[in-house]
Amino acid sequence: MNDRVRKAVFPAGGLGTRFLPATKVIPKEMLALVDKPIIQYGVEEAIASGIEHIIIVTGRGKSAMEDHFDVSFELDATLERRGKHELLAVSRGVATMARVNYVRQKEPLGLGHAVLCAKELVGNEPFAVILPDDVIDADPPCLKQMIDVFEEKHGSVLATMTIDGQAISAYGVLAGSPDPDNPRIYNCTGMVEKPKLQDAPSNQAIIGRYVLTPRVFELLEQTKPGAGGEIQLTDGIKALLKEEKVFGYTFEGKRFDAGDKFGMLQATVEYALKRPEFGDKFRAYLKELVC
Ligand code: UTP
Repeated sequence: MNDRVRKAVFPAGGLGTRFLPATKVIPKEMLALVDKPIIQYGVEEAIASGIEHIIIVTGRGKSAMEDHFDVSFELDATLERRGKHELLAVSRGVATMARVNYVRQKEPLGLGHAVLCAKELVGNEPFAVILPDDVIDADPPCLKQMIDVFEEKHGSVLATMTIDGQAISAYGVLAGSPDPDNPRIYNCTGMVEKPKLQDAPSNQAIIGRYVLTPRVFELLEQTKPGAGGEIQLTDGIKALLKEEKVFGYTFEGKRFDAGDKFGMLQATVEYALKRPEFGDKFRAYLKELVC
């Protein structure tokens, strides 16, 4: 097995119902955060983490993503004719930023099923999974931090956040104990999907970044539909845990759930404030609003 993490799978075959009506026609992954579709933030994070090959799992009505990461001949020719060189570089940059392949998930049968659709394109090597609606502001990038842990520990790594109180019930939650040498690493012994607060085995919630060994594909093939009739990725990882080491990793950085309306509003404000060209103007505007 090749030990380097070279490929990242982006499951993007879901229906995005939390963001209706915006996502009736537009894929959730193409909703703009300031001026970039949210999936582009994930692709940029993957590239900055050393990933060479992007695999996007798409579904019906999701072809805008393929057009986005492709050359737009008419747009580029028009920008060139008008002498808009900076914008031309932006448009061309998106088309050339990565090697991208697509695979269709014919029905949204769950996150585990979406990952399984990428089996042939990934092959027998470790790979990353990035959920495009989890936008993470981190330096070094969250995925890079996780790949470093994977290389050190030789086991799958799941990104986690510490969540206290009732909010834990919205997540997959790890059981286990913190690594004595590095409190950011969690030695995982089990996991529970969306537990009640009193049943949660810890406050370590799984979020949308994973580095997995390819054995998970075979285990997902044997995984029966779980909650909501969907094939859950966490069920495949639970089976993996019985055979291999799995670690949680509390990444350094801030995660936004941009697949949720409120999360997208928070991300919009914070990413806009960081933009050098209008951050100060936007800050002044926000101050004016709250006074
Ligand atoms: P979510 O549950 O956040 O996405 O799945 P969703 O189902 O599209 O959204 P809501 O809950 O109805 O609003 C996390 C990621 O997994 C993908 C989604 O596209 C999203 O990026 N996914 C989910 C698939 O690719 N296939 C599926 O069958 C389910």
